[in-house]
Amino acid sequence: MIEKIGVIGAGQMGSGIAQVCAAAGLSVCLYDINGEQLAKAVAGISKNFDRQIAKGKMSEAEKDPALSRISTASTMSALGSCDLVIEAATESEEVKRAIFKQLVPNLKPEALVATNTSSISITRLAASTDRPHKFIGMHFMNPVPVMQLVELIRGIATDDDTFQAIKALVAKLGKTAAIAEDFPAFIVNRILLPMINEAVYTLYEGVGSVEAIDTAMKLGANHPMGPLELADFIGLDTCLSIMQVLYEGLADSKYRPCPLLVKYVEAGWLGRKVGRGFYDYSGPTPRPTR
Ligand SMILES: NC(=O)c1ccc[n+]([C@@H]2O[C@H](COP(=O)([O-])OP(=O)(O)OC[C@H]3O[C@@H](n4cnc5c(N)ncnc54)[C@H](O)[C@@H]3O)[C@@H](O)[C@H]2O)c1
Repeated sequence: MIEKIGVIGAGQMGSGIAQVCAAAGLSVCLYDINGEQLAKAVAGISKNFDRQIAKGKMSEAEKDPALSRISTASTMSALGSCDLVIEAATESEEVKRAIFKQLVPNLKPEALVATNTSSISITRLAASTDRPHKFIGMHFMNPVPVMQLVELIRGIATDDDTFQAIKALVAKLGKTAAIAEDFPAFIVNRILLPMINEAVYTLYEGVGSVEAIDTAMKLGANHPMGPLELADFIGLDTCLSIMQVLYEGLADSKYRPCPLLVKYVEAGWLGRKVGRGFYDYSGPTPRPTR
């Protein structure tokens, strides 16, 4: 039975995962190396619950118990009693491998481990733990409380008990699972990220402005968000990492990251989470930067 969940990384994804787990009645321990990020995550979750109450999706009486199910931690030993730990830290294989190495000595032998990676091989990440058979890809979408899908990805060693337990958890969270094979970027990002990268090339080559590209795709292809707006929402560092995984993993030049995307990441213009990307978010409404 999965009753206590550890979440590693309290950024936009980790805090969203913690929120939906707590709302579903599970106890959550949220861990991050950055203490400020932990405080920000808990404040954000509280605000999101208020928003859900205002919309009639949650009752006032449910809020405090749900919030009290979330604890925060800055040491990994706090994750020792978890039945499942979901890793949602920065999209870097090096960072994730180091986390798993440090995590596993703290875990119960029967604990399951999942990663929310957007693109990195589940089999390779599993190999950096002592339990590849209890390891799985659990790819939530952003924003987690709103998006219905969770992609499930088995590594080569993932056993059926692990897969079934995680599939049942997805249902308990009120989400829908889609099963993907362990190929670079799985299904959603294999299709979505090359489109976003192409939108950045379209900007880079001067085919259109930020506004023209987003308006064209919203009104011309009926996308709810333009691709550059979406890139800012995902985080340009995450977008670049996914393109690099596709480029290297599939060894095909069609996936080469656009130099303009590289430049934005090098400048620290990572999108919405830092206040600037293809749009500037410092004013009341986002302003295109090109
Ligand atoms: N942004 C998206 O749209 C999206 C969607 C699905 C999946 N993901 C994946 O989720 C993961 C997190 O993405 P995000 O958008 O939340 O990123 P983010 O930048 O908002 O948050 C990352 C968090 O990880 C923390 N962190 C970094 N190193 C750590 C360590 N060693 N130990 C503990 N915490 C550490 C950082 O302090 C930060 O709080 C990535 O693997 C990403 O690919 C992102």
